[in-house]
Amino acid sequence: MSPTTSPNPSPSTPHILVTGGTGYIGSHTVVELIKEGYRVHILDNLSNSREETLDRIEQITGKRPEFTKLDVRDADALEDHLSHHDYDGVIHFAALKSVGESVRKPLEYYENNVVGTLNLIRAMQSAGIPNLVFSSSCTVYGQPDTLPVTEETPLKPAQSPYGESKRICEAIIRDATTAEGAPETSRSVLLRYFNPVGADPSGLIGELPTGVPDNLMPFITQTAAGIRDELQVFGNDYGTPDGTPVRDYIHVSDLARAHIRALEYMNSAEEPCSVFNVGTGEGYSVLEIIQTFEKVNNLQLPYRITERRPGDIEQIWANNEKALHTLKWSPQYGLKEMCQTAWTWQQSLEELDR
Ligand code: NAD
Ligand code: WQD
Repeated sequence: MSPTTSPNPSPSTPHILVTGGTGYIGSHTVVELIKEGYRVHILDNLSNSREETLDRIEQITGKRPEFTKLDVRDADALEDHLSHHDYDGVIHFAALKSVGESVRKPLEYYENNVVGTLNLIRAMQSAGIPNLVFSSSCTVYGQPDTLPVTEETPLKPAQSPYGESKRICEAIIRDATTAEGAPETSRSVLLRYFNPVGADPSGLIGELPTGVPDNLMPFITQTAAGIRDELQVFGNDYGTPDGTPVRDYIHVSDLARAHIRALEYMNSAEEPCSVFNVGTGEGYSVLEIIQTFEKVNNLQLPYRITERRPGDIEQIWANNEKALHTLKWSPQYGLKEMCQTAWTWQQSLEELDR
């Protein structure tokens, strides 16, 4: 499924459905898809994104993606939509994603993430649509016994309904695509993202955190912007070189391109369902992120070491060899660009909100 780049889509231009395509990772993936010549249709209920993102995508790429406001929990609407479109593949981002909120609202998380995924697979099967790329998460590994983690590293019990929803969706997709009698053309790829950060270098799209951010990078950028008084560093007594937890941060545009490589890979994939880690393979501590952010953006971040955050793991980073060799994907951006683009986006967000 490699498109030819032409100004007007021809019938041979692959048509890709992107659920959750106005969200953070979805919008970056739509940009990369359009840049590579794909025709894109977004489905999103706009529960955690804005319709203006479509204007921004158009500004960046010169093309406006098709858009339908639709909730993936609505099985009938989804089935009706898919039966009227001839998609060549689906990238499924639509989900709720806050670990803390999932503990307070487990049923909402299972309904959006698990029921939504089930509805999508059923609708794809009845419309005969092949090829599904799914947003999974390194959260399925928990705190692994050995590092770095490969795709064969055993999964640990989930620490939250959010994590459990990703584990369940992986199992549903794997079972659906490997079932006896599943269509020959039916393929799936589960991408286990590590920690996505940063934004498109244009500064036109990025993450839209609501309320107080849980994640490190949006908390850092809001502190740098003066929206938060100080950053709390959750613990410096871990068994890591500087005592703060280590993660594999990946630039969102690099992550976005992995989805396109996955779509291409499914055309020749021998296995019906494949799993890939999508990380840079490098681990950085919280203090290293703070220091790099300060240095590349030439500013000072007020921060204080506090108690550990319950549920946090000590360290994780990816073995990404499988994605490098099999998907022929490789990350282009380093920590410097992740910190620079995250800050540029924070500054344009303030303009946007004015
Ligand atoms: P996001 O909230 O920015 O994007 C999700 C999009 O899905 C939003 O536009 C939202 O409006 C939409 N959506 C939610 N529920 C929906 C529903 N029922 N019907 C239709 N649309 C719905 O989140 P993101 O960071 O872009 O995450 C995208 C995917 O990647 C999610 O599946 C998330 O679990 C997964 N993921 C995210 C991270 C991360 O750190 N951001 C890490 C690993 C995996
Ligand atoms: C990173 C590090 C914190 C905020 C979460 C989800 C995971 C995935 C990615 C979706 C940790 C520290 C953070 C702060 C801090 N999402 N930190 N002060 O916890 O690795 O992963 O997002 O799938 O499922 O669990 O990411 O960005 O929250 O934290 O010190 O204010 O930063 O303790 O060590 P995490 P994070």
